[in-house]
Amino acid sequence: MNNSDSKKQAVARAAIDFVEYDDVIGIGTGSTVDFFIDFLKPLKNKISGAVASSLSTQQKLEAHGIRVLDLNDVSDIPIYIDGADEVNNNLQLIKGGGGALTREKIIAGASKKFLCIVDDSKIVDILGKFPLPIEVLPMARSYVAREIIKYKGMPVWREGFITDNSNIILDVNHLEIMEPITLEKELNQIPGVVTVGLFAEREADKVLVSSDNGVIELNK
Ligand code: 5RP
Repeated sequence: MNNSDSKKQAVARAAIDFVEYDDVIGIGTGSTVDFFIDFLKPLKNKISGAVASSLSTQQKLEAHGIRVLDLNDVSDIPIYIDGADEVNNNLQLIKGGGGALTREKIIAGASKKFLCIVDDSKIVDILGKFPLPIEVLPMARSYVAREIIKYKGMPVWREGFITDNSNIILDVNHLEIMEPITLEKELNQIPGVVTVGLFAEREADKVLVSSDNGVIELNK
């Protein structure tokens, strides 16, 4: 296992301490979360079940025998656990590298606490070096791309990729996001945009960060 994977595995293991018996757990998507699901397997009979943010997470949970619940059947999700592509000092995030941003944002919004798990390569001063993923209705692709250029971003169509919601992704390069909440709100207003991969209005409540020196907690 390479160093990056070792750090992802370490932070995923640390997140297990935040799982409480009988909880419903919201579960994100990505390679860090995949490690977390592996560590969750031995606890599968202690939790009430999991709400999955993507079909791939759902498949992995089911393969491990972890009960998957429909969000519509759940009224209380005490904790949502997910990775991120970038994290700033205010625990605001860029997410969607795996293309699951819409369901991730829904479950994060529906959960009491959002615990984000990352390795130290994801920590930044200013969000935007990682291309900002935006899920878009297919027929609005060119229009939304033209609107985004007005924000000095360079949108690139993630060709060949279709989201779990049958939409496309534009990855927006060259943004320096000084006001994440404002940008999130404004981009959300463009007709055809389904979800912006900025998690600023609903940021993480706590971030666990792993480095070569171990795992630390960042709190709001
Ligand atoms: C998926 C995401 C992931 O959380 C993000 O891309 C980080 O992934 P990884 O844990 O593989 O580095 O937002 O849509």
